[in-house]
Amino acid sequence: MNKVYLVGFMGCGKSAIGKRLSFFTKLPFYDMDHEIVQKTGMTIPQIFETFGEERFREMETEFLQTFRDEKCIIATGGGVAMRKENRKLMRATGLVFFLDAPFRDIWRRIATDKNRPIVQRSSRAEIEQLYHKRYDAYKQSAHFIVQTRQRSLSKVTEYIAFQMERLSSETDSIEIP
Ligand code: S3P
Repeated sequence: MNKVYLVGFMGCGKSAIGKRLSFFTKLPFYDMDHEIVQKTGMTIPQIFETFGEERFREMETEFLQTFRDEKCIIATGGGVAMRKENRKLMRATGLVFFLDAPFRDIWRRIATDKNRPIVQRSSRAEIEQLYHKRYDAYKQSAHFIVQTRQRSLSKVTEYIAFQMERLSSETDSIEIP
């Protein structure tokens, strides 16, 4: 096992859990959005506005293709699992955990966020529709589905760390379906 990818909708807790997991496991943590922001010197809303969403999606794929070969934890952006190519790349280079959070919880966390252009330009109903539309792709990308409903950040982190530990103690050549 090399990388650990956290996937799921905006506001499902990828960054918060990734940071805790990094603390627990002593593995470095990277936030994809943050890496793209660093590289371009622009905020996510600026990238969307200047180059368009499609270019941002390409940047996400480029990140997955070129990011260094290192054992680490990566919080992906909410749209990353939508591309088949990205799903393949993640599954080929690591373990993928889908943080499955109820829409209610998600909306509470993202409703007023100015740094998420998709939220800025959409109504609650549109975001909920997008959540349902994306659900299967998250599932398809994942080796593990982690229900976060009514579970604390610590509990979710412990569960992921447990699965990581379990798998790393098995043979390295194990094929995860
Ligand atoms: C997006 C999610 C965001 C960010 C961008 C687009 C999406 O990341 O990549 O605003 O399409 O769901 P988070 O999931 O970290 O909010």
